[in-house]
Amino acid sequence: MKKIFIFYSLIILTIFGFIYGCSEVKDDLVLAPSPDFHGEGWLSQASSNFHGKVIGADNWNLAQCKSCHGADYSGGTTGASCRKCHTSGPEACNTCHGNSEHIYPPKSISGKLLNTDPGVGAHEQHLVSDTALRNSRPVECQECHLPVSSFSDPNHILKDGKTQATIVFGDLAKKTTEGVTPDPQWDKNTQTCSGTYCHGNFKNGNQNAAPVHNNPNSVYCGTCHGNPTTGNPLPGGTHPTNQNCYQCHGGVINSNGVIINKNLHVNGAVNFSTMH
Ligand code: HEC
Ligand code: HEC
Ligand code: HEC
Ligand code: HEC
Ligand code: HEC
Ligand code: HEC
Repeated sequence: MKKIFIFYSLIILTIFGFIYGCSEVKDDLVLAPSPDFHGEGWLSQASSNFHGKVIGADNWNLAQCKSCHGADYSGGTTGASCRKCHTSGPEACNTCHGNSEHIYPPKSISGKLLNTDPGVGAHEQHLVSDTALRNSRPVECQECHLPVSSFSDPNHILKDGKTQATIVFGDLAKKTTEGVTPDPQWDKNTQTCSGTYCHGNFKNGNQNAAPVHNNPNSVYCGTCHGNPTTGNPLPGGTHPTNQNCYQCHGGVINSNGVIINKNLHVNGAVNFSTMH
């Protein structure tokens, strides 16, 4: 009798223990993360302990999150999926920079939206898909940055504790023309580019032009070639003095001086064609 009592007590205890254990795990799944795991404020953007800020302060180390939340971030052993909120996964290119339409800033890494902010600057002028806002062929990321093919690409976030973009010029900025070999330079302090083919370092171009990244108004018709004071784009030097651009560059510009084929402007080659 005594033995049977002990036996049933153990079974009852086990069942209660089991139910209690389950409900505890289940609670964890539906509630915000317990302070034990992530601390207060982990899901509150206003908190200094917000998970996005903590990751940024830790040189964007997402590997540690994967160890519990799964290699594909869909929950892993925690059952708590990142994809509930980051629907394309936290490694999607617009999680930390860009927006739903593009991956370049704005927004910048620190969430800035204005083009006077260095992290935003003139990205839009170089890359925007709306050709009404752009005067040239779109410029690929790797014309100014090392190529990045995935979040964990070694070119991406440098593991030196500095989470700051690295400017490395590509082929277009270095395009040589007769007698001119560009030596493009980026000065982070003054936010200026100099010595680039794109902005005037070519035969008959304005070879000393130094556009300011966080002042897109520093670039207009006449600053890369022609006269920056009057805005007349007619190149100097040995270039013909005929003002009717369209007569010789008709594939690029029309008789009203409007650029009609932006893909041929700042593409690395002088394009000629007659009026018709
Ligand atoms: C040691 C394991 C572990 C690691 C490492 C870990 N997590 Fe978690 N995380 C959990 C567990 C378990 C839960 C769910 C239980 C809870 O509420 O704490 C959770 C919950 C979360 C939640 C809440 C999910 C929701 O739907 O409410 C977020 C957000 C989160 N983690 C983000 C992260 C991020 C970002 C990292 C990497 C910096 C990370 N976690 C690393 C174990 C971990
Ligand atoms: C309950 C919703 C939710 C869950 C779950 C969640 N996040 Fe977030 N996360 C956010 C929000 C909201 C932001 C802020 C977005 C913004 O600033 O535009 C954010 C920001 C981030 C950022 C920084 C982005 C930036 O702009 O600085 C990273 C990285 C990140 N989350 C990773 C994770 C990872 C990894 C997990 C899973 C382990 C996770 N998140 C789970 C809601 C969530
Ligand atoms: C979790 C946050 C995060 C995600 C996700 C992310 N990036 Fe980044 N990215 C950064 C940070 C931080 C920087 C600036 C720091 C640096 O470059 O070291 C950066 C910089 C860049 C740069 C400039 C590189 C340089 O150093 O000059 C490019 C290009 C870029 N990212 C492309 C991508 C692409 C493509 C993806 C998607 C495959 C992506 N990023 C996803 C955080 C992120
Ligand atoms: C014309 C040159 C140019 C092109 C093209 C360009 N960038 Fe940048 N980018 C810059 C400059 C310059 C900075 C540095 C600003 C600074 O650090 O002061 C920068 C900074 C960044 C940063 C860091 C922003 C921050 O908050 O600090 C990211 C992320 C980035 N670029 C992503 C991209 C991506 C993605 C593309 C392509 C879709 C791209 N860039 C194309 C010039 C360019
Ligand atoms: C009479 C024909 C003609 C007209 C009109 C003309 N161009 Fe040119 N353009 C040329 C030729 C030829 C070259 C190539 C010169 C060379 O390779 O040295 C050239 C080259 C250029 C270049 C590259 C720099 C250089 O000199 O090689 C630019 C920029 C340019 N033209 C802009 C213009 C603009 C802007 C106008 C109108 C204001 C214009 N051109 C009108 C014939 C013309
Ligand atoms: C960002 C610097 C820059 C600005 C600003 C600029 N150009 Fe150019 N332009 C170039 C470069 C570089 C070339 C040399 C050929 C090439 O690579 O397309 C060029 C060439 C030309 C040509 C010769 C045809 C060709 O091959 O592209 C014409 C015409 C021209 N530009 C007109 C204009 C007009 C009009 C404006 C003002 C609305 C203007 N450009 C503003 C950089 C610029």
